[in-house]
Amino acid sequence: MLYSILALGLGTALTEAAVVRTSGCQLHFTASGAISGPVGEISSGQVRAGSGVSSTTFTLQGGQLWDNKGHGCWWTPPTHVLQCDNNQNPDNGFKVGCDGSVSYNGQTEFWECQTGESGQYNVYLNGGQGVNCHQITLKADNCHSGCPPPPPHFTPPPRPRTCPANLNGPYEFPHLIIPVDESNPNHAPGTSYFGEVSSSVSSIFNFDIPSGDKGKRCSLVFLFPQQKDLTTSSFNFTGSGALDFAWLSEPANQGTTYNNKPGTKQDFGTTTVSPGNNYVISTFACPAGETVAFEISDANGGGTTFRYFQDYNPAPIGLYIRKC
Ligand SMILES: *[C@@H]1O[C@H](CO)[C@@H](O)[C@H](O)[C@H]1NC(C)=O
Repeated sequence: MLYSILALGLGTALTEAAVVRTSGCQLHFTASGAISGPVGEISSGQVRAGSGVSSTTFTLQGGQLWDNKGHGCWWTPPTHVLQCDNNQNPDNGFKVGCDGSVSYNGQTEFWECQTGESGQYNVYLNGGQGVNCHQITLKADNCHSGCPPPPPHFTPPPRPRTCPANLNGPYEFPHLIIPVDESNPNHAPGTSYFGEVSSSVSSIFNFDIPSGDKGKRCSLVFLFPQQKDLTTSSFNFTGSGALDFAWLSEPANQGTTYNNKPGTKQDFGTTTVSPGNNYVISTFACPAGETVAFEISDANGGGTTFRYFQDYNPAPIGLYIRKC
């Protein structure tokens, strides 16, 4: 009988000793602060740092901590000393931050107080629970993902990919606008103050980019305010608003007609415009010292009829090159 109880007891002890957690995440702790170094457990289950303490492998699962014997770790009352005990339900609230910093219910500062063993310190949740207490922090070597990189600091800030779609900064307005007409293909209409698009009419805009703009960024912008915001301009607009913007291979001149207009250097594709919106059509290195031409036409027979007075007075309307 005695033998069988002993055997049963031994069996239980063996079973318990074998309860090493198979789930969760294994980690080691290091203390830093007044007392620094590996954090380990002594045979009594107390978790310590200091001289002669070697690192213990703990297991973190959820917010709970176990030692390498499967004993639950808790802030043992009344002093709230950290200890891992057999059959102890571990305290919940441990967390490892992305940088490995350990917290307990959000608390990141812990305490080490001196023990009877020289140079060894127990870990406490609060100060003032023992002798010679010092504040520490705990760091884990595992069970954290690593922090995202900090937002990069640029001095000066990086140049934006595009210039803003407004005239609150350096810009160029067109020096020549030629509305060519497919239904009157040999007619040279000469310069106009109006940008005009219909099923047969497209408008070519010349811009003179000063040589001083070398190295700057240029955005071709189309500004389209609402009628009510215009003081010196006006527009008529019907249809889908699907417009095709293209960079032409050469500038236009007073003799430009539909039939002799320059070819397309780069088609920026369709932008569907509507009143009350501003658009960055394309951004490129400023063609400094050059005269460049862009054409706006009705995109794929979209049926847009559009005529506006190109005007930089508030609210500015039309095609501009914004520099930045
Ligand atoms: C808009 O249409 C009206 C009526 O045809 C015309 O008088 C006016 O000049 C047009 N405005 C523009 C900017 O084309």
